[in-house]
Amino acid sequence: MENSSRRGFMGKAFGAVAAVGAVGSLVAMKKSWDPLPSVKAAGFTTLDMTIYKEGELVTEKWRGKPIFVLRKTAEMVAKQSEDDKARDIVVDGHHYMVAIGLCTHLGCIPAYYPEEEGFICACHGGKFDFAGMVTQVPPPRGLDIPPFKIDGSKLVLGEVGPEYKSMKESGITL
Ligand code: FES
Repeated sequence: MENSSRRGFMGKAFGAVAAVGAVGSLVAMKKSWDPLPSVKAAGFTTLDMTIYKEGELVTEKWRGKPIFVLRKTAEMVAKQSEDDKARDIVVDGHHYMVAIGLCTHLGCIPAYYPEEEGFICACHGGKFDFAGMVTQVPPPRGLDIPPFKIDGSKLVLGEVGPEYKSMKESGITL
C-alpha cells in the first residue's frame, strides 16, 4: 500500500515534470517558428535624407541590392528634362535620385562619373544620366526605382507610398 502510493506519487511527479518539459519545448518550438524581429524588419531600409551632401553619390543597401542615393545640386536640377524630373524623389524640397544601382542590361554596377554627368557601366558601355535615364544603350531602360515611402525627412525603402505608386502607374519604373 505504501509502495503503491509512493509509486502513485512518483508517477504524478514524473508526469508533472514531463508536462512542464513538453510545454517548455512547445514554447521553444514556437519561438523558432516565429520570425525574429530583425527579420520582420529586414524588408525595409529607412534612410535619413538629411545626411546626404549635394552632388555626392552614396550607395546604400536594400534587400541585398545596392541603392544609389544622389542629392542633386541646384545646377543638376536646373539642367534636367521634364522626364528626368519625374524620376526625382523630393524630400524637404531637395531633389534626390534614388535607384537600384544595377544596370538594367545584365546587372553590373554602374560607376558614378560626375564630370560625365551620370553613370557609366563598364560591362558594355551603357550610360545613365543623373536621373538614372539611359543615355547610351544597351541598357533597355533606366535604373529601377525601389518601392519607397516618404516619411517626413526619412525615406522608407520597401514601403509603397503615393509618390512611388504614381511613378509605377505612369511607367517611370518597373
Ligand atoms: Fe551594363 Fe551591359 S551590364 S551595359
